Amino acid sequence: MPSALLLACLAVAAQRMVYAETGADAWLRYAVLQERATSLPNRVAVVGNSVIVKTAGSELVRALEGRPGKRIPTQSIPADDAFVLGTWKDIHPLFPELKPVRIPSGDGFWLKTVRRKKTKYWLIIGANDRGVLYGMFSLLARIARQRDVNTIDDSQSPSAPIRWVSQWDNLDGSIERGYAGRSIFFDSGQVRGDLTRVGDYARLLASVGINGCAINNVNADPRILSADFLPQLVRVADAFRPWGIKLAVSVDMSSSMAVGGLKTFDPLDRDVAAWWQKTADAIYQRIPDFGGFVVKADSEGRSGPSQYGRTATDAANVIARALAPHHGVLLYRAFVYNHHLDWRDPKADRARAAYDYFHALDGKFSENVIIQIKYGPIDFQVREPASPLFGAMPNTNQAIELQVTQEYTGQQRHLVFLAPMWKEILDFDMHVSGATPVKKIVSGETWHRPLGGYNAVVNVGLDENWLAHPLAMANLYGYGRLAWNPNLSADEIAGEWTRLTFGNNPQVVETISKMLLFSWHIYESYTGPLGAGTLTNILGDHYGPGIESSERNGWGQWHRADEHGMGMDRTIATGTGYIGQYSPEVQKNYESLEKCPDELLLFMHHVAYTHVLHSGKTLIQHIYDSHYEGAEQAAKLVTQWQSLHGQIDDERYNAILDRLEYQAGHAIVWRDTVVNWFFKASGIPDAKGRVGHP
Ligand code: GCU
Repeated sequence: MPSALLLACLAVAAQRMVYAETGADAWLRYAVLQERATSLPNRVAVVGNSVIVKTAGSELVRALEGRPGKRIPTQSIPADDAFVLGTWKDIHPLFPELKPVRIPSGDGFWLKTVRRKKTKYWLIIGANDRGVLYGMFSLLARIARQRDVNTIDDSQSPSAPIRWVSQWDNLDGSIERGYAGRSIFFDSGQVRGDLTRVGDYARLLASVGINGCAINNVNADPRILSADFLPQLVRVADAFRPWGIKLAVSVDMSSSMAVGGLKTFDPLDRDVAAWWQKTADAIYQRIPDFGGFVVKADSEGRSGPSQYGRTATDAANVIARALAPHHGVLLYRAFVYNHHLDWRDPKADRARAAYDYFHALDGKFSENVIIQIKYGPIDFQVREPASPLFGAMPNTNQAIELQVTQEYTGQQRHLVFLAPMWKEILDFDMHVSGATPVKKIVSGETWHRPLGGYNAVVNVGLDENWLAHPLAMANLYGYGRLAWNPNLSADEIAGEWTRLTFGNNPQVVETISKMLLFSWHIYESYTGPLGAGTLTNILGDHYGPGIESSERNGWGQWHRADEHGMGMDRTIATGTGYIGQYSPEVQKNYESLEKCPDELLLFMHHVAYTHVLHSGKTLIQHIYDSHYEGAEQAAKLVTQWQSLHGQIDDERYNAILDRLEYQAGHAIVWRDTVVNWFFKASGIPDAKGRVGHP
């Protein structure tokens, strides 16, 4: 046997452990697995020395035994039925009969059952170490969902190389737009002493194929790059490593001044370039698998290259060059806009900003720069069109930025399953060169880009169940699944997640899936329908109704509602010209009032309250009706949930019931605030007589 190979084998003693259902285990409860453990092989053989592959082995043992996996003792390949885990390079010599036709790529895996005489092996083969881990989790998920795993031959490769999450954690332990407790990473200006939750988070992320995590706020504290902070980053990287999660950090453009002691952060200054190089070298010396940096610059008051008359290209490239020798990447955010716009100017439009600023820079970025683009042109609203920038940078790596933390979508006090919204954006055809859905652009497939992918702001916290609302975990799960395979449907994802989280009882699966799949529409109905924007308080917490807060200020999230009508005129003919940033095919659909889909009407057009929608209703009547319907449907979520009483453990049942009851009440607050405001503005009565009674 080659000396590099370590064959380790453990006989698994199946026994059931009972845990309190705190939600901490999320979709990795393994309840069904332990029931089925007797019909599965009770040996796990791990091939190779890699820490990630060993983690995969001990996780498999943990799943089968129902307790944290033990160290795996060394032995030879078992003569009895067994799971065998390893990379293709290590497994192939042991199973030369395997034909290399199904070898996956990237971080992919191949699950294959092989029979040798009377012995059967469940091979979990990775294209690389991470692939072994992902294959193992995929096999466990199948067993937990009661799928037949007696004969398997499934090879999968991820859609894109970048599948990251971001945490907006501050070094003091608070989290920007975090709704589930304080940071699992930081406290009082330091990395926490106990990083157990960090390891647990990495495990959850790995189980859905995530391979990187930027741990600090994009509004970055420069201290993250100070030399004396590095040993603390090393500790986080150590906690991530067994799970194949690369550590990344968000950095401030002015770091060379703020912590480097230079007098400038001009990206074209030689000393600044040398400082970035020295800083990157020092990080990689201690953390060889470091992922790279995320940058927010020239945005919402952050420092940036414009202060020296330089471009995003200058800024991105000076940092990227420092990372390149170490194979690190730079995610440069396209969220750049002027937040002091003149609201009196009918041509001013924040939605134009990312395209206006970045599209001319196409092709000028280093190969290891990825432009990270929020899914819509404004800011994580309940409904936005896909950002036109996706279609405008054929010579640049791109990543889509999504938000699992529900900043504008109910902050995990409201149930909003976001996978259906993400799917609409990912499937949206930009029509730039034939069929060009966003998912194929960000994966790099459309324009044969070497890099690209996904980054989502997650903001888990110290709350035991990670995101505060147990059902919100469907968003984290769904995000990972879509980054791996954006062709999955929201329906499939909802079903998978429900089975893994609550078990396979058909009534439970059907009820929860339905609740999840409708929830986005419900929330949109009682907040800001028709592309109006979320109508929330945009000047403060981004929560609850705040219709006028968007107007008459420089932030540019205007909906321009007055006594006659509402909506932003973004047409080429009479408006801000935003629609002109799309390909001619897409322009045609948005520019004409007849073709523009109702759900984006007010994003694209300014229309009178008496304007008749495709549905046949007037705009004002739609506003009234959708708010009443939305609030009614929110109340129905409570009764749907109550129909599951007794079928779900009490801990999670009650926690979710509390949140849904609160949501139903808050939906009424939303409804009444919005309909009364529009009644007052328009003076048009509700045809059904519900609004504006004395
Ligand atoms: C939103 C959010 C901010 C955040 C910003 C960003 O505007 O409210 O808290 O800093 O997005 O994405 O950079």
